[in-house]
Amino acid sequence: MQKIIEDIEDLKEKILYHNHRYYVLDDPEISDAEYDRFFKRLLNLERQHPGLVTPDSPTQRVGTKPLEAFSEVKHRVPMLSLENGFSDKDITDFDKRIKKLLGDAPDFQYTVEPKMDGVAVELVYENGSLSVASTRGDGYVGEDITSNAKTILSVPLTLTQSEEGKPIPALLEARGEVYMETEAFEALNIKRLDNNLPPFANPRNAAAGSLRQLDSRVTAKRPLNMFCYGIGEISGPGFDTQYEMMLSLQQWGLRVNRPHLKICRMITEVADYCHHLEDIRNQFLFEIDGAVIKVNQLKLQALLGQKSRSPRWALAFKFKPTQETTRIIKIDVQVGRTGALTPVAHLEPVQIGGVLVKRATLHNQEEISKKDIRELDTVIIQRAGDVIPEVVKVVKSKRTGRENKYVMPARCPVCGAEVIKKAGEVIIRCTNPNCSAQIKESLKHFVSKGAMNIDGLGDKIIAQLRDRGMVREEADLYDLEVEDLVKLDKIKEKSAKNLIQAIEKSKKTTLAKFIYALGIRHVGEHIAQLLANRFKRLEEIQNATIDDLAYRKGNGDAPDTGVKGIGEEIAQSVVAYFEDESNMKNIRRLIEAGVHPEAVLPAIPSPAAGKAFVITGSLRSMPRSEVKDLIQKKGGRLASSVSASTDYLVAGKSPGSKFKKAEDLSVPVLNEDEFLSLLGRK
Ligand code: IVH
Repeated sequence: MQKIIEDIEDLKEKILYHNHRYYVLDDPEISDAEYDRFFKRLLNLERQHPGLVTPDSPTQRVGTKPLEAFSEVKHRVPMLSLENGFSDKDITDFDKRIKKLLGDAPDFQYTVEPKMDGVAVELVYENGSLSVASTRGDGYVGEDITSNAKTILSVPLTLTQSEEGKPIPALLEARGEVYMETEAFEALNIKRLDNNLPPFANPRNAAAGSLRQLDSRVTAKRPLNMFCYGIGEISGPGFDTQYEMMLSLQQWGLRVNRPHLKICRMITEVADYCHHLEDIRNQFLFEIDGAVIKVNQLKLQALLGQKSRSPRWALAFKFKPTQETTRIIKIDVQVGRTGALTPVAHLEPVQIGGVLVKRATLHNQEEISKKDIRELDTVIIQRAGDVIPEVVKVVKSKRTGRENKYVMPARCPVCGAEVIKKAGEVIIRCTNPNCSAQIKESLKHFVSKGAMNIDGLGDKIIAQLRDRGMVREEADLYDLEVEDLVKLDKIKEKSAKNLIQAIEKSKKTTLAKFIYALGIRHVGEHIAQLLANRFKRLEEIQNATIDDLAYRKGNGDAPDTGVKGIGEEIAQSVVAYFEDESNMKNIRRLIEAGVHPEAVLPAIPSPAAGKAFVITGSLRSMPRSEVKDLIQKKGGRLASSVSASTDYLVAGKSPGSKFKKAEDLSVPVLNEDEFLSLLGRK
């Protein structure tokens, strides 16, 4: 029995550690398969010995039986809201207000961080264990969502005491935002539509709906995540600054958005960083709707105090809205490179998030019918990142009776060929493989930046090349000469020469870009990269079978097969593409024309690649920050504490307790010279 208890404890510790690496630090050390094996082993042991299951076991994150209703939780410290700002002037006014209130203020800074668009949640830890989780509610009383919060893998069930961290407080109320990543939200909606359930309007609603489930087993299946941004009550260590507090939360195992948390001294720096976050908002995996500016010094926060609903020491700088109201002038159809007919709404131009929007996609006939979208309708348009703007809904109260219903054409509007709709698909496609619209679109994709990257070959030139019959397929581009190009409208000899040079230059490319350029259905840049990484040579991809491609998890000792990230549908599409003789002919012609796609192989691997290093004591040769960069450059990782998965402990001058731990765990210890020579520095 003692052995079983030890095994369970050991597995729990391992799983907790790897959970933290994966969900909190976004830096996993082991493969998913290895993690699953630990998890299954623990589940088995607990099933055989139910008396040994503890509430903090990682297996207990699957939810519990449904509640009748949520009970209420009173917040010890009210959960306030934030005042909003919308312009640079609002930011400078905020700064002036603070300086005025503080009078002869001591030197102070601001922190700026992204404002997540999710649901505010408070996690109460008593002696390091999660006891209660609640929603914000009206700020004073929220709902008890403890069982639901426990299913969120980035919410630790117990706090961890790290070597550098402050002692865990007897009581900690950590606050943050629970959200759903955009991609997970989209996948969830697809599943809901498949099951005839209404889709969620946005990731925030999806997060809120998932968190307010009386049955936490439902919540457990929803991919929720959490970032902490502050605290309520705390007994124990104090902090001087907001930044220090965030560091401590992270050291105790809570997830904070450290990479995007910035300290700014000048208010101009604050404004610049707010704009920077707005510029890169589309690069986040989740939606952010603003930046939160906070006075960094906690003493000054206390001095500034609060108004009735919001603190005086913080401001939410709200980004420009991504939705606007406008009118549809007319609806027509575009033919894409796969022959798909997409209805497009031409709009009265409107500024959304700093971009002038003139058109929005209506996706397909079903979408038009479901939303009852008509020509001349007043509509709400949404633009999210780089994706094509779309109609969120019709403002029906603005209808005059003159609006026209729209029905998709029965023939391709470009070539007149019949269109078909495959069973189970909503998309209508043109049946003519020589349809000039399809060919132009394929060519546009082929020359685009992420593909063959032929600079200067714009839409207008492509249209002329195709309409004059000079280019019928991709390979024809490589037969063009300066004399051909100067025949086109508005092309002088100089730009013709440049274009020929750009075409020539594109011949040398990477395998991933070439595969992407082919325009295989479902193969975007990412999938193309996965294929190139796995197969290294074009012939290998051409010969790959569905079994070689589609990722299937092994069970027990059988290894995983296929390529992680590639599903059955993509695999089928790749195989079908290379089985088509006309595609193969085009590829052969491209290769004969001199196109040379090459896999980019990593440089000779360093002995440090894939290894986890921990450092104790100080190094003579460089500061810690440089050590980290250097290790990363060589493909290794710098971890903060010694564990069984540490590969090397580097012992500098006056090593600390990590040295003993490394010895206990038989982790090899390197001195500074040995370390430098391993990195190729000596
Ligand atoms: S600080 C008293 N920081 O925005 C200050 N809030 O509009 C407490 N939010 O209820 C909030 N990201 O749910 C803070 N980095 C962040 C945030 C953030 C999102 C939410 C939070 C709050 C709401 C106020």
